[in-house]
Amino acid sequence: MAAIASILYTEEEIQLRVRELASDITRDYAGQSPVLVSILKGGVVFLADLIQQVDLPLRLDFMSISSYGAGAQATGVVRIIKDLDQDIGGEHVLIVEDIIDTGLTLSYLLSALWARGPASIEVCALLDKAVRRIAPLDIRYRGFDCPDQFVVGYGLDHQERYRNLPFILGVHDQAGLAADPDSLRSFLGRHSAPRGGIARPEGAAEAGPASPTQA
Ligand code: IMP
Ligand code: MG
Repeated sequence: MAAIASILYTEEEIQLRVRELASDITRDYAGQSPVLVSILKGGVVFLADLIQQVDLPLRLDFMSISSYGAGAQATGVVRIIKDLDQDIGGEHVLIVEDIIDTGLTLSYLLSALWARGPASIEVCALLDKAVRRIAPLDIRYRGFDCPDQFVVGYGLDHQERYRNLPFILGVHDQAGLAADPDSLRSFLGRHSAPRGGIARPEGAAEAGPASPTQA
C-alpha cells in the first residue's frame, strides 16, 4: 500500500533554515525593535524557534482569525477573533507565518494592519506554496518553496493533529488522511526518525519508504 505521507523537510533542514532566516532578520533590523506578529495557531512553532535565534530587542504579538463560512476561502475575508495587544502605529512589524498558500488570508490581514499606520510590515513565511498563489504577496523572508501538496507538522495541522511533529510531512493521500485523521500517528514519538528509519523522498510525488501504513 502506498504511503499516506512522508517526510518533506527534516528536523535538521528546518532548524538550519530557521537559523539562516533569523540571521537575515537580525541583520536587516539592526538598531530596531520590531514587533513580530504570529497568526494562531500554525505559526507558533516556527515563531518560537525563530525568536531564540534573533539577536534583537524584539516584541511579540498574536492574532487569531476565523474564516467567514462558505466563500471565505475565495475572498480571504476573515474575522479577527483575537486582535493584537499592542498599537503598531509607527512600529516595524514582521508577520511570522507557517505557510502562505493562496495568500488571500494574509493579503486581507495586511490591508487591515496597514490601516493602523505601522512604519513597515514585512512577511516571514516558513513555507511558500507559490504555485497556489491567488493574491500576490511580497514575502521578504521565505524558508522553503513548498510543492503543491498538503503538509502537516512543525505547527501545521490536519484537523488540529500533528502540530507537534518536529519535521514536516508531505501528504500523498489526502483522501486517506481525511478518512482516518489519525493515520499518521505513528510519526509521533519517532523524533529520531529523520536520522534513522524514515528517509526523505527524492521527489515530492513519490511515496516515501517506511510509512505508518507499511510499518
Ligand atoms: P491562504 O494563504 O489564505 O490560502 O491560507 C493559508 C493558511 O491555510 C495557512 O496559514 C494555514 O493555516 C492553512 N494551510 C494552507 N496550506 C496548508 C497545508 O498544506 N497544511 C496545513 N495548513 C495549510
Ligand atoms: Mg496559518
